Amino acid sequence: MPSNTPEPEAGPQRLQKVLASTGIGGRRPAEALIAAGRVTVDGVVATLGTKVDPTRSLIAVDGRPIRFDTRGGETARAVTLVLHKPFGVVVTASDERGRATVFDIVAQSMPVPPGLRYVGRLDRDTTGLLLLTTDGDLANRLTHPRYKVEKVYEAIVEGELSDASLTRLRRGVDLEDGPTAPADVVRLSSGLIRIAIHEGRSRQVRRMFEAVGHHVRRLRRIAVGPIRLGELEEGAVRPITDAEERALRHRAGLDQG
Ligand code: URA
Repeated sequence: MPSNTPEPEAGPQRLQKVLASTGIGGRRPAEALIAAGRVTVDGVVATLGTKVDPTRSLIAVDGRPIRFDTRGGETARAVTLVLHKPFGVVVTASDERGRATVFDIVAQSMPVPPGLRYVGRLDRDTTGLLLLTTDGDLANRLTHPRYKVEKVYEAIVEGELSDASLTRLRRGVDLEDGPTAPADVVRLSSGLIRIAIHEGRSRQVRRMFEAVGHHVRRLRRIAVGPIRLGELEEGAVRPITDAEERALRHRAGLDQG
């Protein structure tokens, strides 16, 4: 986790400052939203001078309330982002070899929200959907084996997989850290396989294919639980929608009632 993230402040603050810290895209976009009359505070259309207390004020953008997380007396907007991780980017807070990290990629699109952490890892050579969130509970649950959240990948593999190999992958293969759980495996076309697993072991998909004698040339994650990569371009980042957030929290056993 980046260590230079500021602590959220309590008490009355300028609305644009509060909005800018919520992953909405920085101060300029926040000011533009306010100037366009798209932001309300307690139901009243806000202006650039409006002051808010994030613990009390109901702030909404386009009528959609911004949810705040007030655990431990701190106040911060819980932000969850969907990133299309590019090839060659490292999933780490800081890389001692100076390689680009996923936080560098987020920072190209928006100020990195305080407390942002990634949810599980992808190899440097794997592309695709990576979730990042400031919500620690959500991150812990999505990565805990108990919740068995499904991760779906598309793999381009060397050679033609036999039906017997597909069946072995589906039933589970022996890896050095133990057998894998049953997986959903579909041949989409020659050399292109879709595989869905519920575990999250290091380089698991690549090792599963190696175990049946096929090297993975390219690996892309296209879904995590209810969240889909869709048409998001490589290197692009977007906040999850309200509907996605509800589905994700439900999948993680939060907000059931
Ligand atoms: N399995 C892998 O082999 N690599 C990843 O990045 C994710 C799952």
